[in-house]
Amino acid sequence: MVQAIRGMRDVLPDEGRRWRAVEQSLESVLLSYAYEEVHLPLMEFTELFSRGVGEATDIVEKEMYSLLDRDGDSLTLRPEGTAGCVRVLQQHGLLFNQTQRVFYRGPMFRYERPQKGRYRQFYQMGAEAFGMAGPDVDAELLAMTAACWKTLGIEDKVRLEINTLGSSDSRARYRAALVDYLSGFEAELDEDSRRRLATNPLRILDTKVERTRTLLEGAPVLSQFMDEEGLAHFDGLKATLDSLGIEYQVNPQLVRGLDYYNLTVFEWITDDLGAQGTVCGGGRYDGLVEQLGGKPTPGAGFALGLERVLLLFEQRNQPTRPAADVYIAVMSQAEQVYALQLADRLRQSVPELRIRVHAGGGKLKNQLKKADQCGASWAAIVGADEVSAGTITLKTLATGEQITLGLDEAAERLTGLGGTGVRLSDR
Ligand code: HAM
Repeated sequence: MVQAIRGMRDVLPDEGRRWRAVEQSLESVLLSYAYEEVHLPLMEFTELFSRGVGEATDIVEKEMYSLLDRDGDSLTLRPEGTAGCVRVLQQHGLLFNQTQRVFYRGPMFRYERPQKGRYRQFYQMGAEAFGMAGPDVDAELLAMTAACWKTLGIEDKVRLEINTLGSSDSRARYRAALVDYLSGFEAELDEDSRRRLATNPLRILDTKVERTRTLLEGAPVLSQFMDEEGLAHFDGLKATLDSLGIEYQVNPQLVRGLDYYNLTVFEWITDDLGAQGTVCGGGRYDGLVEQLGGKPTPGAGFALGLERVLLLFEQRNQPTRPAADVYIAVMSQAEQVYALQLADRLRQSVPELRIRVHAGGGKLKNQLKKADQCGASWAAIVGADEVSAGTITLKTLATGEQITLGLDEAAERLTGLGGTGVRLSDR
């Protein structure tokens, strides 16, 4: 049997149910902030990511799934959504002189070393806001993510870290000072950091290597190079977060792994998932649209990793809705067509019901076992009597109670309630 590719997870029905609960909650939060959904292609020209995400980033240097298509064009499976989102809005004339608030979701691909919470195909939900330069929209993005955690009941599992990278001028001055400082210790740096000294020195701040971290303690810090505009933006963000009651920590070491950021950067971090602690990351990227060939347009956004959010959600151990609410069993093959018609009528009168009709014949006892297995609260049993009277016999599986009703009555009884007495909409 051919096996799955390493790092590309299969989602089975049990997880699929929790996944849907999480995704629907997140979607409803994004929609409630009036963000609109865009669908982005899974593949783009490789150049979009090397120019957008940055040549010297880990993603572009060593993690992209790229291929040559039959025309010889280099294409890449998207490793993230921001560059593609800019490309789409720019190409369709939706950026210049306008504001846009959009979200997207779907699989992203990075050739990373797989472990719990880190995969080669993973699922992001991301939101991007264009055309708004002030810190108010940064705060809105953070409020929106905070609302996501609250809706999922995981707000006590995540904390927010923020930082400012300043304008590109101040970053360039800082970069020079950092290179100057670290060059003095070049022999003591780990191999990765030594390489980054030439290509992407700010990323050294992210290092997990203890020896390098110690060296960094004496390094110049970005805030010393900040210009007034950058500081005012950051103060504005902090003040808004304070007023909204959103707690955060300023982490001067936070630089993020993609090159397009300026001013605000942030990450939501958890201590409950081991090394893969970042559940959501984002920030401002005012230069990206221009970098990709458009007119200067401010932008900011975030993306969250759905698998990581799901792992936190699972720790809450909340029951999710079962596959079926009602399982229709038939006494004999003769009632099969009636059972199918009955199911359709019930689906029409109570659209939120999930109804599974038994297929394949067999003893009633075995059919009822299947009803239990799929989590249904009710079995509807259909025999010759029900067919001739046009009725339905409903059995509450938890108690074994049975009642024969007309179709309308049955629909009424099933409306809004599962057999456990839990409102369907609450499950
Ligand atoms: P990112 O930090 O690279 O940012 O990814 C965002 C989130 O995706 C991470 O915080 C993490 O939860 C999840 N993630 C990343 N890589 C993996 C992986 N290999 N396996 C599982 N989950 C993963 C971006 O992608 C930016 N586009 C975010 C952004 C949007 N910035 C501005 N707008």
